[in-house]
Amino acid sequence: MCGIVGYTGDELAKDILINGLKRLEYRGYDSAGVALEDATGGVTRIDVIRRVGKVAGLESELAGVDAAATCGIGHTRWATHGRPSMANAHPHTSCDGRIAIVHNGIIENFAELREELAQRGHTFTSDTDTEVFAHLIEEAYYGCATGPVAGAAAGAAADMASGQATSAPAAPGCHDLMAAVREACTRVVGAYGLAAVCADEPGVIAVARKDSPIVIGRGARGSYVASDVIALIDATRDVVVLEDGQFARLAPEGITYTDAEGAPIEPTVTHIDWDIDMAEKGGYPDFMLKEICEQPRVVRDTLVGRMTGGELSIDELGLSLEELNLIDRVYVIACGTSYHAGLIAKNLIEMWARIPCEVEAASEFRYRNPIITPSTLVVAVSQSGETADTLAAIRDARIKGAKVFGITNVVGSPVARESDGVIYTKANKEIAVASTKSFIGQVVSLTLLALLLAQVKYRLTVGQVRMLFRELGDTAEQIQWILDTQKDAIHEAALACKDARSALFVGRGMGAAIANEGALKLKEISYLHAEAYAAGEMKHGPIALIDPGFPVIAIATKSPVYDKTVSNLKECEARGAKIVVVATEGDEDIAQIADHVIYIPPVRDTFSAITATVPLQLLAREVALMRGCDVDQPRNLAKSVTVE
Ligand code: F6R
Repeated sequence: MCGIVGYTGDELAKDILINGLKRLEYRGYDSAGVALEDATGGVTRIDVIRRVGKVAGLESELAGVDAAATCGIGHTRWATHGRPSMANAHPHTSCDGRIAIVHNGIIENFAELREELAQRGHTFTSDTDTEVFAHLIEEAYYGCATGPVAGAAAGAAADMASGQATSAPAAPGCHDLMAAVREACTRVVGAYGLAAVCADEPGVIAVARKDSPIVIGRGARGSYVASDVIALIDATRDVVVLEDGQFARLAPEGITYTDAEGAPIEPTVTHIDWDIDMAEKGGYPDFMLKEICEQPRVVRDTLVGRMTGGELSIDELGLSLEELNLIDRVYVIACGTSYHAGLIAKNLIEMWARIPCEVEAASEFRYRNPIITPSTLVVAVSQSGETADTLAAIRDARIKGAKVFGITNVVGSPVARESDGVIYTKANKEIAVASTKSFIGQVVSLTLLALLLAQVKYRLTVGQVRMLFRELGDTAEQIQWILDTQKDAIHEAALACKDARSALFVGRGMGAAIANEGALKLKEISYLHAEAYAAGEMKHGPIALIDPGFPVIAIATKSPVYDKTVSNLKECEARGAKIVVVATEGDEDIAQIADHVIYIPPVRDTFSAITATVPLQLLAREVALMRGCDVDQPRNLAKSVTVE
């Protein structure tokens, strides 16, 4: 979703901001802008330049601007309050334009604040919630609504005239940007990652955070802030992940950190050990293909160190073996693709550990009253570790007494920090909006958890767990085989689907869970409507959709329900469906009903989700490319969904 960058130092800010914004493009956005300090003529002003559309457009506009600024802030916006437009793009400014801010998150009480500020004479130029922040900071800084000279009396008069119980402006103003930001934050209910500049404090960027990520770093040529480490990793690998309620004041010569009262604090420095190459295309035409091709490595890396002395161990669980043994119910809570990883986990946990497991969309879980006891384990799965619904569900589950275990790809992310224990999926930075390698990392991690629960509950012997662990590791080579050999088959299948208006993904057992992920991948990147159904449910409704040429994509690998799935496909064939099947290598018979067959190597059914998903990812990508879609940045989607 939205992205923040900021820089103050002795280099040209505009180049650093544009490069940072480009790094944040993967998160999804619809407009972009920067605020640069302009000291021409000896008086500092803030110049704001904004564009709807891609950062490249903003870059072209800036190329024509002679901006010598060495301090500035930038933003990519994903519209929530107000449509994508120049007026709604960030940065937003105070009435007199001397303060500019960029903000990620949602201000829940913005309507009340806006009314209150308007009554005191503030003028608003956008539909955003963010803009109230700029005016609150302005009041705290100048003590007035209209600028450094004229406003305090006008503000007070407006208050009296309206008879409204508005909070008094901080007249005569604190004239300290950091203090003004702190004060503004006391008025705001909601989530924010915020960076502000002020023409009256050249070179200073004031930063605040609550429930929206902010990272800060000090490089050789200045101080940097961003909402994602990827935007500042060129400058430094030692970063401070700001905690909720912490503030930072960036200046060219250094950074100071304070708490909500303004008392100095010593921040924790985190070293980033992944390489920027991992966030670049490395010769692939797009990030999505690169990330699909990285999946064998993800499987291997996620398993490293898990089998020590012949025993499966997940030390980061944060639960003792006795506590694990007491668990009598598991909820997997997640959204989107991560939710689909949960569907696969349900099969494994119930089969191996015999513990009832429910999978719930976090957005639903948080507003239900689920049955939670101290022996309930809640597993929160989130690639980004920032998803607002998943975070809210974690908090709710913990209040109700559950142990919460996080599975995420991002070290130090809110999901990691707010859970009792965490497994990192070792996918490394995922850039394409559509999740691929993270999904595989999640399924492997959840498989480990299921094996551990089964071992602790004595449902599987240590020997059985060891054997299954080995086979789990074999999926790395099996994925590689698919990548090496099935390209042409996938291309042919994509040609058969590309002009359809809709497609059905079907399977049974594990295949039904995988079908969900196949359908989501196809719709999100190719904009072709797709739905997933348990194949046995077809004749209860969806079969009515099938007419000659309608694509049905089936997962029919060798499994205990193979014959049943084939029978369901025959019903589709009889109605003229165009059938694409993901089948087990060596299954020649399937070609009798399938128009196109994509093979995966023979694999135990329990692990088929890991391998059979790969051709579906590739199929979705091929179809999307054939339909002229941007596979890395699909429309309307954001990589990290930080709003409800
Ligand atoms: C689909 C996709 C989304 C995410 C969902 C949850 O390819 O990426 O459906 O899976 O928004 O995101 P995380 O896993 O970051 O919580």
